[in-house]
Amino acid sequence: MPPDRTEPEQTTLDVHTAIYLGREKKMATKLAALIVLAAFLGGPPACEGDIICFNGWLRLPIQDPRLCPPGSRSRINGRTRALVPVPRPSGLGLGLGYYNNRSSRTSYCPRAEGIVRDAVSKAVAAQPGIGAGLIRLFFHDCFVRGCDASVLLTTTNSNNRDTEREGNPNKNSLRGLEVIDAAKAKIEAACPGRVSCADIVAFAARDASSILSNRRINIRMSGGRYDGRESFANETDQLPGPFSGATVLLDNFKAKGLTSEEMVTLSGAHTIGRARCAFFSSRFSEMDPAFAAKLKAQCNDDDTKVDQEHVTPEVLDKHYYQDVIDGKALFTSDAVLNSAETIKQVTENANKAGAWERKFERAMENLGKIGIKTKADKGAEIRKVCWKVNN
Ligand code: HEM
Ligand SMILES: *[C@@H]1O[C@H](CO)[C@@H](O)[C@H](O)[C@H]1NC(C)=O
Ligand SMILES: *[C@@H]1O[C@H](CO)[C@@H](O)[C@H](O)[C@H]1NC(C)=O
Repeated sequence: MPPDRTEPEQTTLDVHTAIYLGREKKMATKLAALIVLAAFLGGPPACEGDIICFNGWLRLPIQDPRLCPPGSRSRINGRTRALVPVPRPSGLGLGLGYYNNRSSRTSYCPRAEGIVRDAVSKAVAAQPGIGAGLIRLFFHDCFVRGCDASVLLTTTNSNNRDTEREGNPNKNSLRGLEVIDAAKAKIEAACPGRVSCADIVAFAARDASSILSNRRINIRMSGGRYDGRESFANETDQLPGPFSGATVLLDNFKAKGLTSEEMVTLSGAHTIGRARCAFFSSRFSEMDPAFAAKLKAQCNDDDTKVDQEHVTPEVLDKHYYQDVIDGKALFTSDAVLNSAETIKQVTENANKAGAWERKFERAMENLGKIGIKTKADKGAEIRKVCWKVNN
C-alpha cells in the first residue's frame, strides 16, 4: 500500500459490518471493499472525479471523508476545498405547450399531454402508489444524466445492460414504468417520432402531483427534452441515499445546480408512497417511541414496505414536515432536515398553509431542467420505445 501523502491518518472501514439490502449482501461487501481500495489507491483525488463514492445507500459503520459524492467538497491536506460550482439549470430549449406549436412540423402533437394525463389518471385511480412512483421516477431520471429518460433504458447504444434500472436506488423499487410505456404507445400512434420519453416522464410527474394533491399542486411543466442513448447503473450513486446526512444531501443537490431550499422542498415528496424497512429499521431508537413501535410491528423483514407518511399516506400534502419535527420521519435523510441549516424551512413548510405547495411547484419545474438534451445534442433522439434506444 503506497503511503498516503495528504491524509494525516488512515481510517479503516470494517466492511463486513456494512448493512445492505436483502439478497445482495455479498455484492455489497465486494463493492464496499472496492470503494475502500479505490480510496486508498486514489488518495484524496478520489473525491474529485467520477469515482465510486459512499452515497448513503450503503450503511457503513464509519463515514470516511474521502468517500464523498462527486461534485462535492474534498479534503485535501486537512482543508475542505470547494469544487467548481455547478450553474443553475437554465432550461434553455424547453417551452410550455411545446407540442402545441402548429408551426413546428417536427414537434406538433396536440394530443400528447392529454394522452399522458389520461394514462396517469387511470393508473392512479386504480393504485395511488403508482403516482408516487411516477414522481420519484422523474427525480431519478433528472438526477442522473439529466432528464433524458436514461432511467427507462434496459439496453443502450453501447449495448450496456447494466443500466440505471439496475442501480441500488432503482432496482426492485421503481414503479409506474408501465404507465410511461402505455402513454408512449398511444402517442406514437397519434404522432410518431415527435414526443420524447423524457417529456412523458416529466408530464406524468406533473399529473401525478396534481391528482395526489387534489389539484392543489399545479406544476407548469415545459416540454422539449430529447432522449439520451446511454445509461449506467454506477451513475445512480449520484442520488442521495436514505443514510445520507445533511452535508451529503446538500452537496448532492448542489452538484445538480439545485439549492438547499429546493432539497428541503423536494424531500416533501416523501409524504406519499412507501419505503422498505431495510432503510430505516436501524434507527427506531431515534424515532418517536410510539411511532417506532408501530413501524416495528409492521416490519417483518428488510423488504417489507410501509407507508412513508402515516396520517395521509396517499395525499401529496405538507404533512411530511410535521412528521420530521415530531420524530416520525423514516430515513436519516429525512430526520436530518431538523438540523440548524434547514429547520427554518421545515417549520415554515409545516405551519404556513400553501407555502410548501408553491415551492414544490417551482422546485419540480427546476428539477425538470437539469441536464436536458435538445435536438442539437449529439446522441440525443426521440425514442420510439421508451426502454430501448432507436437503431
Ligand atoms: C433528498 C434525498 C432523497 C433520498 C435519500 C430518498 C430516498 C428514498 C428511498 C430510500 C425511498 C424508498 C425506496 C424503497 O424502499 O424502495 C424513497 C421513496 C420515494 N421517494 Fe425519495 N429520496 C430523496 C428525495 C426524493 C425526491 C426529491 C423525490 C421527488 C421529488 C422523492 C420521491 C419519492 C417518492 C414519491 C417515494 C415513494 C416511491 C413509491 O412509493 O414507489 N424522493 N426515497
Ligand atoms: C461505470 O460503468 C461503465 C460501464 O459499465 C464504465 O465504462 C465506467 O467506467 C464506470 N464508471 C465508474 C466511475 O466506475
Ligand atoms: C414554433 O415552431 C417554430 C418552427 O419550429 C419556431 O420557429 C417557433 O419559435 C415556435 N414557437 C414557439 C412559441 O415555441
